[in-house]
Amino acid sequence: MKRVIISGIGIDIPEAVITNEQLVESFNAWADRENARRAAVGEPLLQKSDTAFIEHASGVKTRHMLFPDGVLDPDRMTPRIPPRADDELSVMAEFGVAAARRALDDAGLGAGDVDMVICAASHHQRPYPAIAIEIQNALGMTGSAFDMGLGCSSAAAGLHVAYNLVRTGAQKRVLVVTPEIITGHLNFRDRQTHFIFGDAASAVILEPIADGETRPGRFEIVDTRSWTQFSNNIRTNFGFLLRAGQEDTSVVFMEGNMIKQVGNKVFKEVTVAGHRFIVDFLADHGLTPEGVRRFWLHQANARMNAMILKLAFGREVDHDRAPMVLERLGNTAAAGSIVALKENHEDMEPGDYGLLCAFGAGYSIGSALLRMM
Ligand code: COA
Repeated sequence: MKRVIISGIGIDIPEAVITNEQLVESFNAWADRENARRAAVGEPLLQKSDTAFIEHASGVKTRHMLFPDGVLDPDRMTPRIPPRADDELSVMAEFGVAAARRALDDAGLGAGDVDMVICAASHHQRPYPAIAIEIQNALGMTGSAFDMGLGCSSAAAGLHVAYNLVRTGAQKRVLVVTPEIITGHLNFRDRQTHFIFGDAASAVILEPIADGETRPGRFEIVDTRSWTQFSNNIRTNFGFLLRAGQEDTSVVFMEGNMIKQVGNKVFKEVTVAGHRFIVDFLADHGLTPEGVRRFWLHQANARMNAMILKLAFGREVDHDRAPMVLERLGNTAAAGSIVALKENHEDMEPGDYGLLCAFGAGYSIGSALLRMM
């Protein structure tokens, strides 16, 4: 088996920022109007959203959006993403390419150096042609490419696959790219979820190194692991069978078929599963949480990460040990832990261990144990 390193990481964060205050104002303006209609016909009224609740419950203060136009308009509450012709680069591929180019630059590589692209994301713009192949083509790469998805664990699962493909020599260099345009699938009229997500793209390049070789400032991958257990507590029902389930087939009804979650159940169940996963995975490598310099956890909820770490360590852990990008970016789905890794590793010393661990729909957990060279 070959040794494998992460030779490059790239991220792309959209410029536009939307605050909690802006989101709540637009939700409540819509809710007022909707409640006037409901009151007139005797339907139960909606409750208002609240900035203080959002900050306390989730830790999110702002999120970045690729297409903010339309989101805050109470008449629309959906990003306005102009359609593109089939021969134009698709929006998702474009976002992935931006992060991938940065990963290539970081690694000092050209397009010809990578022979596989995996587009691992929680939502794909279409089933085929695979977004990964479009990214491969846009970057001028050859070889093979495919899409994969495992909710918010997609990028970690992509690393698990890529690590084993490079380790066994099946592929020379693999690009795992995660463009998350999650605001396009979010129901901004759902009080339970409208504040959670933001957009971000990440990209990671894996390649082998020779025995005895070292690349200062880069991570060697010690091991990767993936775990799943079925749950309906985070679910989207959006898919190609929707139209066939309707009497009126002229339109596809999105309302009710977008992301929904039973957040408090997810919180409890994933906290338990997550901390056990971390402790067991580390123990299998002769490590305890105290022996790991940094944790780049999934960025879904600040209190949840604090709880997972408290259970794993048996004590409180600070943000130097487990950085959070959630407050600024919201939950960027599978890109979140990679963004945390990219922004928080340059101070690490040779020999330091780091653990990337993502969790989410499925349920699913994916992790990579890294050691700084
Ligand atoms: N504004 C004001 N109140 C709100 C609200 C909002 N936007 N959204 C929900 N509430 C209300 C609820 O209706 C509930 O009211 P009730 O007690 O009268 O029924 C109350 O706040 C508590 O709701 P709950 O869902 O129990 O809150 P919570 O503390 O669990 O926080 C989440 C909600 C979503 C922030 C939190 O559960 C979470 O982040 N869970 C983990 C999600 C996750 O990890 N997902 C996986 C990755 S995608």
